[in-house]
Amino acid sequence: MKKVALITGGSLRIGKAIITELHDNGWRIIIHYRNSQKQAEQLEKRLNKKRAESAVCIGADLSSHEGINSLIQESIGAFKRIDLLVNNASSFYPTPVGNIEINGWNEIIGSNLMAPIFLVNGFREILEKSKGNIINITDANLNRVFTNHTVYIAAKAGLEKITQTLAKELAPHIRVNAVAPGAILPPPNKTWSKSTEEKIASAIPLNKIGKESDIVNAIMFLIKSEYITGQTITVDGGRSLNG
Ligand SMILES: NC(=O)c1ccc[n+]([C@@H]2O[C@H](COP(=O)([O-])OP(=O)(O)OC[C@H]3O[C@@H](n4cnc5c(N)ncnc54)[C@H](OP(=O)(O)O)[C@@H]3O)[C@@H](O)[C@H]2O)c1
Repeated sequence: MKKVALITGGSLRIGKAIITELHDNGWRIIIHYRNSQKQAEQLEKRLNKKRAESAVCIGADLSSHEGINSLIQESIGAFKRIDLLVNNASSFYPTPVGNIEINGWNEIIGSNLMAPIFLVNGFREILEKSKGNIINITDANLNRVFTNHTVYIAAKAGLEKITQTLAKELAPHIRVNAVAPGAILPPPNKTWSKSTEEKIASAIPLNKIGKESDIVNAIMFLIKSEYITGQTITVDGGRSLNG
């Protein structure tokens, strides 16, 4: 029976790269999206053309309990098994103190922290059955002081910490690990100028910005590493070494 992976926020960018690699390795895929329905459906179509009935896409807003619960129900119904949950969906934008509002809180905490917790809660039984895997995508910026992003950093710090508590609580049946990307892509709908890229690279010991494939490689390593749980792999070209 082919294994099934659910990748939240999977229609674009890093999520799409994770999905493409998993599918190339024989996995069946549940593509979660919120606004990017068109891109999710295109990806679903492309994967199903390669291998029939190997992909479905499911829309849900992870800022709300209703959205999270519908994603749980529809995902369980899709292939009747889940072997891997990648908590990748993330709202990311500055929340300078004085401008923190409840809508931003709900969106950022919802996608980065609340959804991962409730998805794990809802998928516990089905992941136990499959001796499954959870991979949380956190952020290497947790290793430095990242101002103006209080809500995002609170969410990612929570996600990183629960990677350990969940790993212990869900062992021996389910492994839980995290990947913490450094500078990979500019925020959605933004671009980095040549000079910005050079400035970012100059702060990184390996002297370059990362690629989606760098994150994918860490995820594929964790999937096959059956004796690793509760760990975070930082994929930031050594940026954290500079403090
Ligand atoms: N890019 C980087 O350099 C970098 C650096 C550090 C950490 N990371 C982490 O790596 C992961 C992937 O990064 P990325 O840049 O590829 O992510 P992204 O493009 O910023 O976001 C991924 C997806 O998350 C979904 N999403 C956001 N808010 C949501 C909500 N409230 N409900 C449901 N879905 C929601 C969006 O789906 P729709 O488009 O369908 O709305 C979006 O396409 C994220 O967890 C990010 O925090 C990335």
